[in-house]
Amino acid sequence: MDLIIVDDYEALSRAGADWLVEAIQVKPDANIVVATGETPMGVYRELAERRSRGLIDTSRLHVFELDAYLGLPPDDRRSLFGWARRSFIEPLGIPEANIVRLASDAPTAVEACRVYDAAVRRAGGFDISILGLGPNGHLGFNEPPSLPDASTRIVDLTPESIKSNARYWVGEEVVPRQALTCGMDLLLSARRTLLVVSGVHKHEVLHRVIEGPQTPDVPASYLQSASDVTVLADRAAWQGL
Ligand code: GLP
Repeated sequence: MDLIIVDDYEALSRAGADWLVEAIQVKPDANIVVATGETPMGVYRELAERRSRGLIDTSRLHVFELDAYLGLPPDDRRSLFGWARRSFIEPLGIPEANIVRLASDAPTAVEACRVYDAAVRRAGGFDISILGLGPNGHLGFNEPPSLPDASTRIVDLTPESIKSNARYWVGEEVVPRQALTCGMDLLLSARRTLLVVSGVHKHEVLHRVIEGPQTPDVPASYLQSASDVTVLADRAAWQGL
């Protein structure tokens, strides 16, 4: 694991965009799985800004959805796909044909997971993975406990995740109780991973991810064994100040 610590969220967004620009220049048609959540938003804004200045071509990327609330249509504003569309897909000019969804509104979600898994494998796996860190150590919605071979599947959200996602809904009681997530197996075999972590509330879990034992109780700790992982954190997360 490489570790990059920067002063604040602005610096994190710039450093994340630098990392992504370099990764995309190496492979302009990369398969990329992208997290939503608040942390990577600055990175995506910075990347879109660089694209608008003609510094990077993102139009050949193939984008894979990371996770989705079960049963929520993609055009619902609260859907994670809608969020990925507004923050990444549209600002970066990704063509519709280059998007692979985790179709949480499909008649059978189990089938949607199978179709997604097959599509990722057919495409040759992920070249680039951009991940945020759940306050309970989850990646995507691979909630604790999740083993490294956990596949793309339907998961029950933990009370902690329901609570932390309540800020995007009108209240905790309306947050969906289940979600679909890209599996740990696919995420851990990505060729390059950027884990972005910001804020004092992630301090403890960040250190468990980097220094603790690899355990299903902190699914992100398995990144210690994945290849080419960069952890990008701000001082608040790193020092807990
Ligand atoms: C959410 C999402 C994750 C995201 C994480 C962290 O529950 N399922 O994909 O990475 O939590 O979100 P944030 O960056 O807002 O802290």
